[in-house]
Amino acid sequence: MIFSRHMIVAVAASLACTVSLAQVDEGIRKKAEETCGSCHGPGGAKPAMPETPKLAGQQYEYLIHSLKAFRDGTRESPLMGAMAKPLSDADIISLSRYYSSQSGLRTRY
Ligand code: HEC
Repeated sequence: MIFSRHMIVAVAASLACTVSLAQVDEGIRKKAEETCGSCHGPGGAKPAMPETPKLAGQQYEYLIHSLKAFRDGTRESPLMGAMAKPLSDADIISLSRYYSSQSGLRTRY
């Protein structure tokens, strides 16, 4: 009896953990697609214009560095400066993790 109650608690705890991780990923994906996807394309893999770089599969550190540089103005771009200004450090980390984990070499859409 006590044993089975423990089992239920353990299963419930692992389920809750899985769900919250999935929600974090979904939140990042949604933010990226809604905020950045109009120019960089779905998953950052298919930019709308030739002068807009692909982000999919780009190095994590490079994405972090670029977004911080746009935000503080050391890398000048009127467009990306405006896009990066409202991002927190946590946003930059999440977005860089999202785009660096996308497949950049295969066309997925
Ligand atoms: C209105 C169009 C537009 C939107 C929206 C946009 N970008 Fe960009 N992005 C650009 C353009 C154009 C460049 C190239 C700028 C340059 O190099 O001067 C760029 C460059 C970048 C780069 C540098 C990539 C490289 O290869 O050097 C990163 C990183 C980036 N964007 C991330 C984002 C993220 C994250 C978002 C969403 C928060 C976003 N962008 C939203 C147009 C856009």
